[in-house]
Amino acid sequence: MEKAQTPFERLGGNAAVAGIVDRFYALMDSDPAYADLRALHAADLSSASHGLKLFLNAWLGGPRDWFERGLCVMSLHRRFPIPVEVAAQWADAMARAIAGQPGVDRELGQAMAERLGHMAQAMINREGDPRNAAPHLAVVD
Ligand code: HEM
Repeated sequence: MEKAQTPFERLGGNAAVAGIVDRFYALMDSDPAYADLRALHAADLSSASHGLKLFLNAWLGGPRDWFERGLCVMSLHRRFPIPVEVAAQWADAMARAIAGQPGVDRELGQAMAERLGHMAQAMINREGDPRNAAPHLAVVD
């Protein structure tokens, strides 16, 4: 019986992950909609980009190098102030970066974007504008 493919393999391996991460940081760097998120990052994005590629490789079931460093991705983000708006910017840029990657299986891409979006939400550690936190309860000015 053939071994089931990992999501990493189904996605297209290293090259696909690198394409997504490069597009993610290019979007963050250029689209003013992500200005708050961009402002939390260093001028040089190469270390974050390298780290996110290794993390996603491992998270998707590929090479586990990132996890071998013994770091927790959630703890790593506690030092950044993350209100709901910034988490939403991260999730939006990532969903666009995945959708823009040629040849990605639609269902896999959507599942990835959804789960990564949940992780971003779990990193919220600051109050944002309450109207953004609970849109269905929004107070109309
Ligand atoms: C919620 C909004 C988020 C913000 C504001 C944020 C912010 C940052 C910042 C500022 C860095 C750069 C750290 C550095 O260069 O030392 C970074 C790196 C990183 N982020 Fe996020 N992030 C967010 C969400 C996420 C999510 C959801 C994930 C997981 C999928 C993630 C995974 C990573 C990884 C793996 C690195 C590289 C860390 C390393 O290997 O050293 N981030 N993030």
